[in-house]
Amino acid sequence: MRPVLGIESSCDETAAAVLDEEGHVLADSIASQERAHAPYGGVVPEIAARAHLALLPDLVRGVMGRAGLRFGELGGVAASAGPGLIGGLIVGSQLAKGIALAHRVPFVAVNHLEAHALTARLPGLVAGGAPFPYLLLLISGGHCQCVAVHGVGRHERLGGTVDDAAGEAFDKVAKLLGLGWPGGPALERLAASGDPGRYAFPRPMMGRPGCDFSFSGLKTAVAVDVARRGDGALPLAVAADIAAGFQRAVAEVLADRAAHAMALMRQRAADARLLVVAGGVAANTTVRAALAKAAEAAGFGLVAPPVRLCTDNAVMVAWAGMERLRLGLTEGLGFAPRPRWGLEELTRTHTDPRHPSESQDSRRTGPGSRRHDPAPDDSSGRGSATSAGGQPG
Ligand code: KG4
Ligand code: ZN
Repeated sequence: MRPVLGIESSCDETAAAVLDEEGHVLADSIASQERAHAPYGGVVPEIAARAHLALLPDLVRGVMGRAGLRFGELGGVAASAGPGLIGGLIVGSQLAKGIALAHRVPFVAVNHLEAHALTARLPGLVAGGAPFPYLLLLISGGHCQCVAVHGVGRHERLGGTVDDAAGEAFDKVAKLLGLGWPGGPALERLAASGDPGRYAFPRPMMGRPGCDFSFSGLKTAVAVDVARRGDGALPLAVAADIAAGFQRAVAEVLADRAAHAMALMRQRAADARLLVVAGGVAANTTVRAALAKAAEAAGFGLVAPPVRLCTDNAVMVAWAGMERLRLGLTEGLGFAPRPRWGLEELTRTHTDPRHPSESQDSRRTGPGSRRHDPAPDDSSGRGSATSAGGQPG
């Protein structure tokens, strides 16, 4: 398999990367739009789309130059085609399709959530790449879900948030504490000097059967606590204690829900041994430590990719493209980006009898037959934290 170019533009990170067949990164570039959106306290879809349009062509030329490749030498061009903010998805997908058309290489429409899910299969992360099946805990600004990953295109959602995503809760509480956006990293820094036992915040869903999450009550509890202290700025020590207490509550809830998810996963697949975390919140040290403890207690290994691969990036898109290309799962140029595109829709597509599931582990089976199925109409997924209609992930 020749190298694959990956393009990420589903939310506020503009990124391009080139990977070889073994998953070695030949070139990788990422431009964060954080500064452009920060004054608005969240991602502004129109600003994001324009920034992708301005940044992507140079980013793509740059990674191709550093990889020492011409477009015609690629094995395929993969772009995040959903879920996400539609403007950015269109920019990235159209660029990928243009390259594919002009240079006669396959186009791969990558589901952004599947890209997060398959990151653990990068051979450099776990020796030889994480084998299927494994449990994915995706905790980002737009998503919070537990997914049984059985194979490429074969995902089963075990549970998810009924309201806010974990990262959204971090961002909202950070705002209440007067921190900038995005709030997660700033809140973690503040929490480092706080006492996590000083204020008792609720642990929503803790101990409940299943592995659903809820964070809006926790955020409201913090809001009530902050409001009762009056209008003035919070003393730094108080803000730090609140941040630490909130962070501990989130970490404990995530660990509890992950423990339930691991038990469910074992029922689905007795040979499942790995808990993989992805999404920006997986960058949080307290969260990682709590998940490591839960995984150990359940007899699971924890795969926590380096932060740059947990947050949005193009390496994961190129890798998901590579996995799909090996199975012959390319798309026609008529594939339309989807602001909402749940992982389980991929499952429905890929349990197609023409593509039996037992051929899913590409490294064992090699390339499969090429297919160009129109994917089903999309309707699943929750609304975005940052804009109507999309699901930044
Ligand atoms: O996966 P991601 O980069 O992208 C989207 O959700 O689009 O995740 C970003 C989210 C934000 O909500 C951010 O506040 C949160 O991840 N986050 C963190 C940390 N770093 C990023 N939350 C807690 N602790 C962190 N260190
Ligand atoms: Zn994402």
